This record gives sequence, C-alpha cells and structure tokens, in this order.
Amino acid sequence: MIPLFLDCDPGIDDAVALGYMVCQTDVEVVGIAATGGNVPTAQTVRNALSWLELAGRSNIAVHPGAQLPLAHKAPYRSSALTPPVYADDTHGPVGTGHAALPTPRTTPPPVSAAEAWVNAAHTHPGELIGVVTGPCTNLAMALELEPDLPRLTKRIFVMGGAFNYRGNTKPTTEWNIDHDPEAAACVFNRFAAAQHLPVVGPIEATEAVVITPERLGRILTGTSDPRWRTWLEHLGEALRFYFEFHASDGHGYVAQVHDPYVLAAALQWARHPDPTVPIPWAESTRAAIDVELEGSLTRGETVADWLGRWGAAPNAELVRRIDAESFLHHLETTLTRGPTY
Ligand code: BDR
Ligand code: CA
Repeated sequence: MIPLFLDCDPGIDDAVALGYMVCQTDVEVVGIAATGGNVPTAQTVRNALSWLELAGRSNIAVHPGAQLPLAHKAPYRSSALTPPVYADDTHGPVGTGHAALPTPRTTPPPVSAAEAWVNAAHTHPGELIGVVTGPCTNLAMALELEPDLPRLTKRIFVMGGAFNYRGNTKPTTEWNIDHDPEAAACVFNRFAAAQHLPVVGPIEATEAVVITPERLGRILTGTSDPRWRTWLEHLGEALRFYFEFHASDGHGYVAQVHDPYVLAAALQWARHPDPTVPIPWAESTRAAIDVELEGSLTRGETVADWLGRWGAAPNAELVRRIDAESFLHHLETTLTRGPTY
C-alpha cells in the first residue's frame, strides 16, 4: 500500500482529487489536512469531511489546518500583510459550487494538520508520499515541528506556481502560492534536502487538464454503483459552477481542474519501482525555484532560475507540460469505475 498524506483546500478541483483518491485500491490514506485557501479553514474541513462521508470514507481523518497564512505569525510577519482573500467567485460561497453537501457527522480529531504531517512521516519513515493541492501553510508549520521532514518523506508533490509570468490571481501569481508565499518559499527551500526533489505542477501545465460537460456526462452515465453515482452527481453540481466560472473568465464552458493531476502523478510515480522514472503523463525539468516575498507588484510570484544566475542547485522537478488527453482518459476511467465498496 502507498502511504499518502493529502493537504488540500476543497475547493472544486480538490474535490475531484478526493474522488480520484477514494477510487484507489493500493493507497493507505494516512490523513488529510484541510487548509484555508479557496475558502476559510473551517469550511475546507467541513467540505473534506462531507465529500469523504458521501463517498463512504468517514474513516479517513481530516485534520484542521492553520487559520491564517504564515505572514500573520511571528517570525514570518510580513510588511506586505493583508487579510486573506478567498475564492468564492471560482469555487462558490462555501467551496462546493452549486452542490449542497450533507452536513458531516464526523468531527475532526484533536490533532492539527501540522502535527498530523509529522505523525504520518514518523509512522512511514522514508515512505510517505505527501501531496499539497492548496497553500503550503501546514507543511511549512510541520517543518517547524520536525526539521527532518524532508528526509522522512519519500517525495512531496505540490500543485502551485506560475513560471511563465501569467498567473491566475495577481498578474504573475498562482492562487496556492499567492495565498501563502512565505510557506511556499519555506517548503521549496527546505525540501531541497529531500531524498527526491519535490515535484511542482504549476498552472501553465495543469491548466491543460480540462473537464468538459461531455466528459462529465460520460463519467456519470458509465457509473453503475448507485452510491458512487450520488457522489458523482454532487460533483457534477460543483463542476457546473466551475464551468460557469470558466465561461465568465473567457475559457469557455469547461473546467480546468488543476489538483487531481499532481495527486495522480504522485501515486503513479510511487508505484514504479525505479524512482528515476519520468514524472507520469508529463515532461518535466529540474530547476532552482523560489518565491518573491517583497515586490509590491509581484509578491507571491514563483521564479525559476533558467539562466543559472543564482548558482543554486535545483530544488524542484518542475512539470512543464502534461499529456492532458492521456491523463484525462485515466481520470475518466478511474472516476467511472469508482471506489470498491
Ligand atoms: C489552484 O488554486 C485553487 O483555486 C485550486 O483549487 C488549485 O489548487 C489553482 O491555481
Ligand atoms: Ca486546491
């Protein structure tokens, strides 16, 4: 079994990732962290619990993440401090689009997301696969608790960044990094010492993963289990909001789903006995990357040193392009098959 820790901010595309996760039969979900990002932390916790319960997986612990980005906390306190902004225009007022999810019955354990990261790594030393599909706040806080985390995890995979100067938040920033630049900088710098370089999937790669209403329709009609069909119908209502958002943003009536790719790539990579295997469904390259923390126009921008000017060793395996058609085929097949009940 692949030990997995998923840190997310559901969020509609995070929900697609959660759906993909529960369909896996060779993965032990050691824990989920829910962090503030698309909506505030209390709501991402609630959404994660609801999506999991609806899928019949209330046995998976959802750990509440930090309430605020690191910049609100000493010693990171930033001069550029502004209150966190949430993405209700993109993900709906509670982060589930048009879907009305049942109120969760499970309560989160009294273990914070940062503590849960550390416990998961100690339980599976050198084996844990960590996936971050939201801001990096919890993982950065986990590094404060356990500086040896890079060595204790097998590999981390992060959805975030925009390395071609075209963002989706400020002109050059991507949402997950923009929400907590200090946390992302901390993770990118500290995980340079990991046994395998962190895999970073930026928006210029993940935006190619586009679900259309037609593909969603095929998934819904192809599913035979009534319980899973109910889950997918809720996801469909969430995606309907995402289609409308993307249409209003000039992308057409489709949904760019950024998060499921990094989770799927992490699991597929972990299945392969050779860790030097290429990142699945992708072209990638090693690069020294960092996050701008000061610029009044560019705070939160991710930068890759393509010219080697910093004289720094690569600290990330950067996904440059995703074979979206192959990956979408895999995603469709997996979601149509559903979990094993
Ligand atoms: C990222 O930001 C969020 O809105 C999505 O869930 C995804 O993780 C894309 O920039
Ligand atoms: Ca997300």
